[in-house]
Amino acid sequence: MHSSAVQPSPVMTGGAGPASYDENSSFQGNAFALLGGPILKRALGHWLQLRRWSPQTKERAVCIADLRSATGENAVAQMELVLHCQETTGLEEEKELQSVLQSSPRKRTDAFDSDGAFDPRTVMAFFSDLPDNDWGTLLRRIYIDSRGSGAAGIPRLPCHVAAVPGSFYERLFPDAFLDLAMCNAALHWLSRLPPEAEEPGWNPGRVWCTRGAPEHVEEAYRRQQAVDLRAFLNLRAAELRPGGLLWLLLPAKDESGGLSTTFGRILEDAWRELTQDGSLDTHWLDSFNIQAYFPTLSDVRQAVTESGAYDIHALECVRMSGTMPLRTGRGTLAGDDVQGTPRLPLPSVAHVWAVIQPQICGHTGTERGSRLYERMCEIWAREPDKYNRGTGAVMCVALFRK
Ligand SMILES: C[S@@+](CC[C@H](N)C(=O)[O-])C[C@H]1O[C@@H](n2cnc3c(N)ncnc32)[C@H](O)[C@@H]1O
Repeated sequence: MHSSAVQPSPVMTGGAGPASYDENSSFQGNAFALLGGPILKRALGHWLQLRRWSPQTKERAVCIADLRSATGENAVAQMELVLHCQETTGLEEEKELQSVLQSSPRKRTDAFDSDGAFDPRTVMAFFSDLPDNDWGTLLRRIYIDSRGSGAAGIPRLPCHVAAVPGSFYERLFPDAFLDLAMCNAALHWLSRLPPEAEEPGWNPGRVWCTRGAPEHVEEAYRRQQAVDLRAFLNLRAAELRPGGLLWLLLPAKDESGGLSTTFGRILEDAWRELTQDGSLDTHWLDSFNIQAYFPTLSDVRQAVTESGAYDIHALECVRMSGTMPLRTGRGTLAGDDVQGTPRLPLPSVAHVWAVIQPQICGHTGTERGSRLYERMCEIWAREPDKYNRGTGAVMCVALFRK
C-alpha cells in the first residue's frame, strides 16, 4: 500500500466546544506567554525605538500580521501583547539601536507619542490561517474583541481587524506592507510531507521522525524543513518594510537533543496497540505521517544567514520544565501575573487531540479516529508519567528586516 504525501491540511479542531483547540491550547498559550513573552517584549521595545527614527512613522497605519491564528483564543492574547508594547529605554537596547542606525543611517523624527508607545487606533491587525481553518469562530471572536464587550465595553483589540486566508508558504501581503509579522506555534508545520513519503514502506510503524526513526526519514524531514524555512523567510522579507519585525516561536530540538516527544509518542503508542490487537489495519498507520518538524537553532541560524534579509535580534531556545505556571484568565499579558499562579502538568491527551484530530479523522475516518482517541486516553491513564513530562524546548526568534 502506498502512503500519500497529500494528507488532510494541518488545521486545528474548530468550534468552541470542550474538544476544540480554543479550549485545549493553554499549553501553546503558556509557552508563548511565559517562555517567549519576555523575549518578544524586548524585541518590541527595540522595534518601537526603530520606528521612532522612521520618517514615515505617522503617515500611515501600522500593519501587524498574526500568521496562524487558528480560532483566536491565543492569537488575540498575543496581539494584545503587541498592542500594549512600550518603548524600552534599557542601556543595552540603546547600544544595539545605535549599532543598527550606524549600519543603516536614518533621520530621527520626533513625531511619536510622549510615552514612546504607538496609538493602537492606527493599527490594522491581520489574522491569517489556512483556508480549511474554522473561520466562522475566528471572525466572530476578532469582531467582538475589536468592538468591546462586557460592562466596561473596553475592546481587547482596540484596532482595525481583518482576516487573510492562505498558507504562510505563499505571498499573503503586498511588497513592503507589514510593520510586524508574528508566527506562534505554527512554523513547525511543513508545506507538505517530504516527497520520499510517497514511497511504500517509507516510515513503517511510525507517524513521525522522532524516537529512533530511520536515518533516511529524519533526513528527508530535515531537507523539507530547510526548503520550507527558506521560502518562508524570503516571502516575509518581501512583505516586511525595512525595520519591520519578524517574530517566530516554535517547538525546537535544543542543542542537547532535547525534544518534546509527548505529542508523537502517545499517538504512535496508541496506534501500535490498535494494530497489534487487530482493531485497526496496519495500512492506516503506515500511510500516515505528521507533516511537522522541530528544527535546531543552527537550522534556523543557517536559513536566516542565507536569506541575507534580516538582522538577528534574538535567536534562542528556552527549555520547558515538567510543569509550567498556568495562564490566569484571558488576556493576561506575557510575563505578568505569573508568580503564585497554580501549576498544572502539561500537555494532556485533549491538547494533543485538539491539534491532530482533523488530520487523523480526515485520514482514517471519524470512527477509526475515535478508537484511536479512546486508546490514547486509556494508555495515558495507565502510564501518566511516561507522557506527562512536558519536556523539550521552544525556539524564540526576533528578526529585523534590513
Ligand atoms: C498550533 S496552531 C497555533 C495557533 C496559535 N498561533 C497559537 O499560538 O495557539 C498552528 C496553526 O498553524 C496553522 N498552519 C499549519 N500549517 C500552515 C501553513 N502551511 N500555512 C498556514 N497556516 C498553517 C494551522 O491551521 C493552525 O491554526
